[in-house]
Amino acid sequence: MLNTLAAAALLGLIAVAGAIPKVSRTGRYLFTDDGNRFFVKGIAYQTQGVVVAGPDNPLNEPSTFVDNLADDAACARDIPVLQKLGVNAIRAYATNSSLNHDSCMSALSNAGIYVILDLTLPLNGSIDTTLPAWSTNTLDQYLRTIDAFEKYDNVLAYNIGNEVMTPSATQAAPFIVAAARDVRAYLDSISSSALVGYAAIDGGSSFVDAVADYLACNRSPAAAIDLYGLNNYEWCGDAANTTFNGVNARFADYEVAAYFSEFGSETCSPNPRVWTEIPVMFSQPMVDVYYFSAISRGHEFGMATLSADNASVSTNADFENLAAKFNAVTFVNSPTKANATSAALPACPPASTAFAVAGTLPPTPDDAACGCLADELGCVFQPPTDDYMVLVGTLIGIACGLVGNVGGTCDDISSNGQTASIKLSYVMSEYYELSHRAPTACSGASAAASSCIPSPSAVFTPSAPPVLIPHPRSATPSASGAAGGSNNNNTSDARRGIWVGMGAVAGCVVGGMVWTLALV
Ligand SMILES: *[C@@H]1O[C@H](CO)[C@@H](O)[C@H](O)[C@H]1NC(C)=O
Ligand SMILES: *[C@@H]1O[C@H](CO)[C@@H](O)[C@H](O)[C@H]1NC(C)=O
Ligand SMILES: *[C@@H]1O[C@H](CO)[C@@H](O)[C@H](O)[C@H]1NC(C)=O
Ligand SMILES: *[C@@H]1O[C@H](CO)[C@@H](O)[C@H](O)[C@H]1NC(C)=O
Ligand SMILES: *[C@@H]1O[C@H](CO)[C@@H](O)[C@H](O)[C@H]1NC(C)=O
Ligand SMILES: *[C@@H]1O[C@H](CO)[C@@H](O)[C@H](O)[C@H]1NC(C)=O
Ligand SMILES: *[C@@H]1O[C@H](CO)[C@@H](O)[C@H](O)[C@H]1NC(C)=O
Repeated sequence: MLNTLAAAALLGLIAVAGAIPKVSRTGRYLFTDDGNRFFVKGIAYQTQGVVVAGPDNPLNEPSTFVDNLADDAACARDIPVLQKLGVNAIRAYATNSSLNHDSCMSALSNAGIYVILDLTLPLNGSIDTTLPAWSTNTLDQYLRTIDAFEKYDNVLAYNIGNEVMTPSATQAAPFIVAAARDVRAYLDSISSSALVGYAAIDGGSSFVDAVADYLACNRSPAAAIDLYGLNNYEWCGDAANTTFNGVNARFADYEVAAYFSEFGSETCSPNPRVWTEIPVMFSQPMVDVYYFSAISRGHEFGMATLSADNASVSTNADFENLAAKFNAVTFVNSPTKANATSAALPACPPASTAFAVAGTLPPTPDDAACGCLADELGCVFQPPTDDYMVLVGTLIGIACGLVGNVGGTCDDISSNGQTASIKLSYVMSEYYELSHRAPTACSGASAAASSCIPSPSAVFTPSAPPVLIPHPRSATPSASGAAGGSNNNNTSDARRGIWVGMGAVAGCVVGGMVWTLALV
């Protein structure tokens, strides 16, 4: 239970607190700059957005979000409660980079609380599981959030995705790695030491192993994550101390730091939760193997309730139990920074049946090239909804039907590893070719692609994202693009052109979520 007096007392206290130490990684260990080991002992701090249940939303993902770090009053109310819980970190799942976070972030910092910040947003603000893309819009969204938070001294890590890959859909893997590569390059370019993380859904060991290995292997240019988060709900109630043995063994030789980015099953007995996993997580052998732990999501909330006027918060028995366990934790401090070693990253694993992904990573999304293309393309498609991933699947189906009507097939795009935009554009391009450039189909611009995009596979350090300006584009198809299209009437040439062009365009989202429909 908390009141405004307590908040005021805290504000008085924090003025004299010392600066929060910087955390860095050596191999799979994290250290504060005094050389001591650092473990995450944290909790998810996120108000649930609106969830629209339905067959398109099997994981019950929210479609809106609350930026808790921009709510100064709520932060002032909650930080003493977080301190009482004994946490040194929170995980925030979504923030709005145009809002001000100064008050909350500095109050957290003064309270010794780090922030693990997801760069993703609901709906189209994340790399999609089944129709992945790594696009200018998503990159720019991530970089804007980094720009908004880089001035704070307590950002521990930026997560580039949460549960994007699933045991039944791993095709997003190269896109996640490309995101890690470009975000890392950007952080280096602004001298940020924040870690790059990914939070993985749990699954069978072959899936968890494959994801972990794919995200932390030796690539050039470097693209490995620093921080592997596992959302792990294995421990149920007063479970046996051996519960985590499997996951310990799995990560025994992992080269980057690993932690539980969520834990704390709610539907177990006894209830309220007894949190008997906490002492196990913070003692041997777990601290030797699964290098640091914590963050309890308690699914939607589960730890506290707000008063009707939002002015105060009452904690429940789950909270009291967790506070007792967290506050009893003493960090194991071995190895120290001085004697910690850092193993070289292993070679990247080959694609396998359990983990079917394309071999090459997508290029760095290029704002300049995409802006150029937006001006050149004759035909663009602008979906009428933010939730366009569902739409793209439907459109590919419609387009394949059209292609079938003119004697073509969609066989060429049935494999994994291509983006939705590639597939849709390819199908529409094929339709365009096969229907002999009927005026109602789209014409495009392989010429535009080659003049705008010098190298379809270019990897570079992204610069600061452009200021948000809506790009006015008509969604009306036109028979001939500004670039004039080509006079090539050879379908195999045209297809090759599409692949080259689409490789380049794969990273583009032109005009704010616009999908190109043809590129010949
Ligand atoms: C962020 O906040 C601004 C200002 O309130 C608002 O206009 C914008 O829609 C918000 N963005 C998102 C992604 O919610
Ligand atoms: C998501 O959709 C909104 C609304 O169309 C758009 O403004 C935004 O740029 C999109 N974000 C991404 C990352 O594509
Ligand atoms: C489980 O592990 C904890 C922490 O190491 C220890 O305190 C406890 O005694 C163990 N329980 C059993 C049944 O071994
Ligand atoms: C309390 O806060 C929530 C968001 O966290 C908001 O939706 C609600 O309207 C607020 N209630 C009042 C009475 O301010
Ligand atoms: C690191 O040093 C500490 C104490 O100085 C020692 O206990 C520990 O065994 C060393 N660890 C390694 C991996 O060398
Ligand atoms: C392309 O070739 C087809 C026959 O394969 C022909 O009917 C069509 O007129 C040609 N189009 C152009 C623009 O030359
Ligand atoms: C079409 O292009 C391919 C590849 O360049 C070539 O082998 C083939 O002969 C061409 N067909 C025609 C009809 O020009």
